[in-house]
Amino acid sequence: MRAMTVVPGQPSTAGVSELPEPTADEGAVLVEGVAVGICGTDREIVEQGYGVPPPGSDRLVLGHESLGRVVEAPEGAGLSPGDLVAGIVRRPDPVPCPACARGEWDYCRNGRYTERGIKARHGYGAQRWRVDAGFAVPVPAELGVLGVLVEPASVVAKAWEQVDRVGDRTWFEPSSALITGAGPVGLLAALLAVQRGMDVTVLDRVTDGPKPGLVADLGARYVTSLADVDPQPEVVVECTGVGSVVLDVLSRTPPAAVVVLAGLSSGTPPVPVSIAELNATLVLNNAVVVGTVNAARRHYVDAVDALRRADRGWVERLLTRRVPLSRWTDALDATGVDVKVVIDLSD
Ligand code: BGC
Repeated sequence: MRAMTVVPGQPSTAGVSELPEPTADEGAVLVEGVAVGICGTDREIVEQGYGVPPPGSDRLVLGHESLGRVVEAPEGAGLSPGDLVAGIVRRPDPVPCPACARGEWDYCRNGRYTERGIKARHGYGAQRWRVDAGFAVPVPAELGVLGVLVEPASVVAKAWEQVDRVGDRTWFEPSSALITGAGPVGLLAALLAVQRGMDVTVLDRVTDGPKPGLVADLGARYVTSLADVDPQPEVVVECTGVGSVVLDVLSRTPPAAVVVLAGLSSGTPPVPVSIAELNATLVLNNAVVVGTVNAARRHYVDAVDALRRADRGWVERLLTRRVPLSRWTDALDATGVDVKVVIDLSD
């Protein structure tokens, strides 16, 4: 079978490899790969060597934003042939630490977790893959290919859960949210904010392409400067990971705000910062800044629910480009107008 592979950090090695069929020890559920989404993490693996192949292999099968169709599943797995599933990215560390032991591998304490398609485990970018039922999340047939957005949506579902949990420290009924970054994660964060009935502003630097229209059609406001954000947000979900944006957001933290940092960006220029000033802003405003990465199973379930409730036409517009497996490396070229590029594993 064919799979999308790379030696991390060596872009010239990115290509299609012929690999043996997955074996039963990789999981009891056999899945036919339908699609995988490409994100900044995949580009970092290819170009900068983030991530590691599994022990004994110099190549890594990429793909952590997955969608597949069950081919065979054991009795009692709650899955039947033909069902759509999204595979969970992270696996608990082998100890396991107390968090992993409780299914909160996204909070792994010892760092020995693995991640499919990223850290020490092959990903889902293959024509067939195996997974244990506990790591396969059912995707309703009505979602179809949109199920490939379950993983990125799980990351923002977790971000909103963190807002609720942190907000419980005091009276907190937020009605306005700022999302920085109108990439797939930012747009999905905005979708979930709108679903919560919030007044939503999305900040991004681009003025052309599909992003401003996607934000407007959500019923949210699109701005290119923080100076134009009105009303003041009670929640900020930062999805760019760009140092200057993070600093601007933190320096303007409104009273009692919850700021969730959900973005990662490598190679953005360093910014000079007065930690004492930033400290004063955060202290005097009772602000909370919380970082979040990855997701537990319950967040994937929340993500499925959010995508199901969303306007289908709007979610479809997030998938701006489909690339066949045979040419998957084309997906690494950023066009500037793409939101989410998806690899079609059947092609
Ligand atoms: C993935 C997460 C993963 C993180 C760090 C992100 O792109 O969505 O599941 O934990 O990268 O490896």
